[in-house]
Amino acid sequence: MYKTSEQHEVFRRKIREFAESEVKPIAFMLDKESKFPKEAIEKLGEMGVLGTPYPKKYGGIGLDVLSYAIAVEELSRVDGGTGVILSAHVSLGTYPIAAYGTEEQKQKYMIPMAKGEKLGAFGLTEQNAGSDAGGTETTAVLDGDYYILNGAKIFITNADEADVYVVFAVTTPDIGVRGISAFIIEKGWEGFTFGEHYEKLGIRSSATAELIFNDVKVPKENLLGKEGQGFKIAMATLDGGRIGIASQALGIAQGAYESALEYSKERIQFGQPICQQQSISFKLADMATKLAAARLLIYSAAELKENHEPYAKEAAMAKMYASDICLEVVNDALQIFGGSGYLKGMDVERAYRDAKICTIYEGTNEIQRVVIASHIIGRMPKSNIPVAKKKGAETGVRKKMILKEGTAEERVTKLVEALKADNYDFTVGIDINTPISKAERVVSVGKGIGAQENMELAKALAIQAGAALGSSRPVAETLRYLPLNRYVGMSGQKFNGNLYIACGISGAGQHLKGIKDATTIVAINTNANAAIFKNADYGIVGDILEIMPLLTAALDNGEPKTEAPPMKKMKKSPPPKVVPTWKRYVCNGCGYEYDPAIGDEDSEVLPETLFEAIPEEWICPDCGEEKDKFIEA
Ligand code: CAA
Repeated sequence: MYKTSEQHEVFRRKIREFAESEVKPIAFMLDKESKFPKEAIEKLGEMGVLGTPYPKKYGGIGLDVLSYAIAVEELSRVDGGTGVILSAHVSLGTYPIAAYGTEEQKQKYMIPMAKGEKLGAFGLTEQNAGSDAGGTETTAVLDGDYYILNGAKIFITNADEADVYVVFAVTTPDIGVRGISAFIIEKGWEGFTFGEHYEKLGIRSSATAELIFNDVKVPKENLLGKEGQGFKIAMATLDGGRIGIASQALGIAQGAYESALEYSKERIQFGQPICQQQSISFKLADMATKLAAARLLIYSAAELKENHEPYAKEAAMAKMYASDICLEVVNDALQIFGGSGYLKGMDVERAYRDAKICTIYEGTNEIQRVVIASHIIGRMPKSNIPVAKKKGAETGVRKKMILKEGTAEERVTKLVEALKADNYDFTVGIDINTPISKAERVVSVGKGIGAQENMELAKALAIQAGAALGSSRPVAETLRYLPLNRYVGMSGQKFNGNLYIACGISGAGQHLKGIKDATTIVAINTNANAAIFKNADYGIVGDILEIMPLLTAALDNGEPKTEAPPMKKMKKSPPPKVVPTWKRYVCNGCGYEYDPAIGDEDSEVLPETLFEAIPEEWICPDCGEEKDKFIEA
C-alpha cells in the first residue's frame, strides 16, 4: 500500500492553503471570463512550486515527482485550469530541457523556468498530427547558424502566456519519426506569432492557442538533444506529463466529491440528509473508492519516475484511469447536487466541464490503451503506407498556383484569366446574403480586413464576383462585422459550392475544415507562408486592401450581374502525382528497388529508413548483391 510521507502532507497543506485562499475565490470569475490567473501563477513561482521536482542547482526546490503530483492535484481541486498551467509548465515545458538540455540550455532556460520567472509550454500537436504525433509537418531547415522554422502547432496549453516553448519539427523529411527534432523557441522571436485563444468547454482559466511559425530563425544551439531525437524526447516527456494530467483529473474529481459529500449532509429530503439514503451513500462510497484507486496509481507512477525506474506504462494507466473515473465522479457529484449543481457558479458545474479534457489531451485515453497494450503485448505491426501518401493539405489536393511576382495588377489579371479558364462566369451572380451552405460562390474575409469600414471593399468584391459574403470566425464572433451565421468553418457554416475567395484569412484548421469541399479556393494574404496558400488552388500574395479593389474592377463587366442559374457543382482538378522526395536506389544486379517506406524486415531495416542510413553490410534481399552495387535511379 502506498503511504505519503509527513513531508508530502506538509507540502500538500501548503498548496491547499494557497489554492483555497488565492485561487478558489476567483475560480468562477476566471472561468466566466476565460482569464489566465497571472498573479496566482506568479505567486506559485515565488513559492518555488513551478520548480517543485527540479534540483536547487537548477532553480528548483528539490522535491520529488510525487510532491509535484500533489501540487497539481491540490490546485485542480479548486480549479482544473490552474492545475494544467502548472502541469504543462513543469512536465512539458521544463522537463525536456532538464532531461535533454545542454548545460548552457539549462543555465539559460531551465533555471528561470524552475524559479518561476519564465513560463514554459510544449508544441507537438498539429492539424494533421494529433494522436499520430509522428505525422508532424512543421519544418526546420538548417541554414548556416540557424534553423528556419515554418508551420503551426494547435491546441497549445499556456500559449501565449508562456515565454519558452519546446517545439517539434521535421529536420529530415520523408523518413518518419526519426526525422523529427526538438527545439527551444522564445516568445518574441520574429515570425513567431499566436492564433486567437480557443473558446473552450472547460479549463477556461488556462490559455490555449495556436503557435504560428513563419520563417522563424532558431539559433543552432537551440536544438534540444540531437537531430532526429525529437520524437523520442516528445514521447518521454509525455510519459511524465501524463502523471501531471492524471493528478489534474484526480484533483478535479476530489474537489467535486468533497462538495457533493458536504452538500449531501446538508440537503434534507424525505426527512433526512440525502447522504443517509442508500442511493446517495452508495454513490459516495463508489466515488471515494475510485478516487483512492486513482491516487494509488498516480503516486506509485510518480515514485517509479522519481526512482528512475520504467514508468511509461504506469503513467499511462494512471492518466487513463484517473481521467476515466474523473468523468464518473463529477457526473455523480452533479447528480447529488440535483438542479442546484446545474447552475453557473457552482463548483460542480465547472468541474463537470473541466473534467472532460483529461480524457483527451496529453494522449487520448485510446492512445493510453495503445501505450499500455504495447507494454503488455509489444508494439503493433505498422501498415506499409508510404509516408508521402499520408501527407496532404487540410482541403485535399489543390493546384497551389500562388502569384507572388509582378505588379498587383498583373497578379490580379493572371488570377482572373485562370478562373475564367476554369469556366467561372462573372456575368452572373447570387445575392450576397445567400446562406453560405447554399451559395455557389463566397467571398470571405478574415482578420486581415482591419477596420470595419473595409468591409465595404469585401462587399463590392462579393457583388462583382457574383458571390455571397462570409467571414472567418473571429470576424463574426470577436469583431462582429457579420452575423454569426455567416462565418465559415468547422463550428460555423460549411461551404459546399464552387468558388471560395478567402481574403486576409490565415487558414486556421477549423476554417479549412469548413471549406474543404469547395471546388476552387482562392487566397489573398500578405503572408506568403500563411496556411491558406497550402490549401488554395490560386493565391495572390499581397495586401487585401490593395488587391480587393483591383480584383473587383477586373471582375466588373460593366453591367449588373444577371441571376445565376441553379448551382451545378464543378469537379476539382485531378490530383498531381505524389513524387517521393527521397533518392531512389535500384540493385544493379536484379533491378530490385529499395523502398524507404517499407524498409527490409528480413534484414531488420525498419520502415522509414533511408537507403543512405542502411548498414553497409546490408545486401539486396532479392539477389544478394552488395549495398555499394546499388545505383541511384
Ligand atoms: N519514450 C521514448 N521513446 C519512445 C516512447 C517513449 N515513451 N514511445 C515510443 N518511443 C520511440 C520508440 O521506441 C520508437 O523508436 P525506435 O523505432 O527507435 O524503436 C519511436 O519512438 C516510434 O515509436 P512508435 O513506433 O511506437 O511510434 P508511433 O508513431 O506508433 O506512435 C504513439 C506511438 C504512442 C501513438 C504516439 O504517437 C503518441 O503518444 N501519441 C499521442 C500524442 C500525445 O500524447 N499528444 C499529446 C500532446 S501534448 C498535450 O496534449 C498537452 C496539453 O495540452 C496539456
